[in-house]
Amino acid sequence: MGFNLLTLFYLIGSVTFIMGLKMLSHPETARKGNLLAAFGMILSIFGTIFLYEDNGTPLHNYPWIFGALMIGTLAGVMAAKKVKMTAMPEMVSLFNGMGGACAALISIVEFRHITAPFSLPGWHVLLSNNDSAGLYIPIMLGLIIGSISFAGSMIAWGKLNGRINDLSFKGQQAFNIVLFLAMLLVSGYLIGWLDSANYLLFYVVFIAAIVYGVLFVLPIGGADMPVVISLLNSFTGVAAACAGFLYHNQVMLTGGILVGAAGTLLTTLMCRAMNRSLWNVLIGSFGGNTAIAGAAGVAGSYKEISITDAAVVMAYAHKVIIVPGYGLAVAQAQHTCHELELLLQEKGVEVTYAIHPVAGRMPGHMNVLLAEADVSYDKLLEMEVANEQFRSTDVVLILGANDVVNPAAKTDPASPIYGMPILEVEQAKTIIVNKRSMKPGYAGIENALFFQPKTSMLFGDAKAALQKLVAEIKNL
Ligand code: TAP
Repeated sequence: MGFNLLTLFYLIGSVTFIMGLKMLSHPETARKGNLLAAFGMILSIFGTIFLYEDNGTPLHNYPWIFGALMIGTLAGVMAAKKVKMTAMPEMVSLFNGMGGACAALISIVEFRHITAPFSLPGWHVLLSNNDSAGLYIPIMLGLIIGSISFAGSMIAWGKLNGRINDLSFKGQQAFNIVLFLAMLLVSGYLIGWLDSANYLLFYVVFIAAIVYGVLFVLPIGGADMPVVISLLNSFTGVAAACAGFLYHNQVMLTGGILVGAAGTLLTTLMCRAMNRSLWNVLIGSFGGNTAIAGAAGVAGSYKEISITDAAVVMAYAHKVIIVPGYGLAVAQAQHTCHELELLLQEKGVEVTYAIHPVAGRMPGHMNVLLAEADVSYDKLLEMEVANEQFRSTDVVLILGANDVVNPAAKTDPASPIYGMPILEVEQAKTIIVNKRSMKPGYAGIENALFFQPKTSMLFGDAKAALQKLVAEIKNL
């Protein structure tokens, strides 16, 4: 009876994961989708704790289980409440790393379980029975993938919060490839050695996977971290699915496969949005700590616009398109931005937002940011639609965006962002760019748009500038 009920719980858990994931694909249903999947997860966890039986023996060490659950829940809730939207990729990376570590720890524990209680001389141990050999594959896979995901995610976390710098050495790619092949070879040898195992080689593979995870992420440029995090996320999913195989646990398997598939799709979509291959992301140094200037260089002078002039230009326009970027998120200016939108609308101006797929620092960053301020979804134009509309636009107001409007992506083959589709704002009649200085964006390259005759710079923090703009327009 207990077992059947548990199977039903697992089925409900799996279905809620799938439905939740589907609902996450639209901002209107995303919150409910998240809650639904969380409900499925809670049901599966408590079902396992109270209904699971191993050869008739239920789980027992409840104080340990609930102690760990409480600590984890407390840490998770506090971190999620405290985190700023701009630091979200960091938190995702940290949590993802913990998932990878769990999968690797499961492999270490289960390796000890499948080995016989007595050892042969040295590090050599016997497998407890022949069935154990079949478990060896998911154990080794979980160990390697989970460890890489853990170590890589920790490095990505450190890079995003500025604690760790890019680091590479001559021949690092070749070293990584050799290390990876060596890991596979030793694992293959261990798995193929059917009735025995070797602790020494097992821990050598574990350490090699950690080193590989560190070296794999260290040289990748900072601006590419969201892609790397998504890739590592898919690794954790696969590692968790391996643990699902080990324990014959259907919900772990489904959850792991869903995370693996979703992470892979997201990685592919992000690469496509930047028109770059995954290989280019992994070996390039896009947005590293060292600033890279476009080969053509950018020279010339720029002009500034006052708040009063910017207010007049916008208030008397027919059509305004706002381009939000990372700076808007940093300034937390989304609410003031919405206020400006409503104010202009009252004055008969048509206002929409142009959303670049990789604006900000995580997928859907701008959509989430604007949704937080109750900006209507039908006001958000996807890049292709916006690019058709710029020609008939009077004013484009760029708020803390830089790389996603950089024309070097189209004109300068030597630029690291060459080939990335951009918002073609230069087609509009007037362009107002709000940022705090002439510093480059995350890719570390100059932006020729700022020096074009049509462009005026409105320097200052996005929130302060928008507040002044709103006050000025109200007085017109
Ligand atoms: P960025 O190119 O990073 O530019 C943001 C600009 O905001 C900066 O130039 C900065 O200039 C300005 N800024 C910062 N704080 C501000 C504030 N408080 N008020 C006003 N302006 C402020 O941003 P973007 O155009 O959104 O492009 C995103 C970048 O991330 C791209 O390179 C993209 O490829 C990369 N990336 C994103 C993703 C995802 S999924 N979103 C994934 C991979 C890579 P000042 O310092 O002068 O103010």
